[in-house]
Amino acid sequence: MHNPQLNAHGELTHLLSIEGLPRDVLMQILDTASSFIEVSDRDVKKVPLLRGKSVFNVFFENSTRTRTTFEIAAKRLSADVINLDVTRSSTAKGETLLDTVDNLIAMHADMFVVRHAASGAPHLIADHLRRVGRNDVHVVNAGDGRHAHPTQGLLDMYTIRHYKQEFANLVVAVVGDILHSRVARSDINALTTLGAAEVRAVGPQTLLPTAIERMGVRVYHDLREGLRDCDVVIMLRLQNERMNGALLPSAREYFRCYGLTPAMLALARPDAIVMHPGPMNRGVEIDSDVADGPQAVILPQVTFGIAVRMAVMGIVAGN
Ligand code: CP
Repeated sequence: MHNPQLNAHGELTHLLSIEGLPRDVLMQILDTASSFIEVSDRDVKKVPLLRGKSVFNVFFENSTRTRTTFEIAAKRLSADVINLDVTRSSTAKGETLLDTVDNLIAMHADMFVVRHAASGAPHLIADHLRRVGRNDVHVVNAGDGRHAHPTQGLLDMYTIRHYKQEFANLVVAVVGDILHSRVARSDINALTTLGAAEVRAVGPQTLLPTAIERMGVRVYHDLREGLRDCDVVIMLRLQNERMNGALLPSAREYFRCYGLTPAMLALARPDAIVMHPGPMNRGVEIDSDVADGPQAVILPQVTFGIAVRMAVMGIVAGN
């Protein structure tokens, strides 16, 4: 089946989802990001890869890390960056998403970085660009509904590779609100494509999607069992804004059963790393002693996100 992210040569032209992307493409992004880490360490942090291009950050949902690191990444590639203020944009007056996109194309947009509460919004834009014959304009998904957050998935893979080198022998636990998490879906798709030995989905029944085993994971409802002998622990935020109805008794009860405390982390391997995409709810899914402890790599994840986003933008525009 045709993958709308790839051109006729199998090269990435949009980044919409990790699902269905070949291992080679994921490795190309990780390897390209490695070269941009070196750029970030230089006094002059810029390269001219996107000089003369206009990148539009179009965020219909809140963001701290993703929006800011995309902006830094685009500037380091020498692009012009335009941050659309969605609260003041014409979508607030009823303009459709695609009409907004057409207007931004009329302003010579070369790339859209899109975050939207609706799953599929970046796909819709990419499909529209294809129909209007604008294969020179690219879309990068910065998180759509519960569906995908591919650059977060890629920066998570970059972080894992940085600390653990190989994926083949790793046991990775993804813990928490997987039902509402686009990060979990992107991480699981990336880990299975990159050949992690075992990917575990750990959480209460009410916060795991039905038939999640089909994604290639082992399901654990007991945090102790799920963490035992893990190499990597990826904690997820409780996504209160996406929950309909009472899926949990209380935040305190959730922390008692699924919160990552030092005692729980001691069940993982002694050299296990702890990741979190942010924003964290301290005392809900993660204890501060773990979040600020020696095994946490949560802030390095953010830093690696700049190089990974540089790699993604450089590759899609280059193709
Ligand atoms: N991880 C992540 O997407 O964080 P932001 O919502 O701050 O962008």
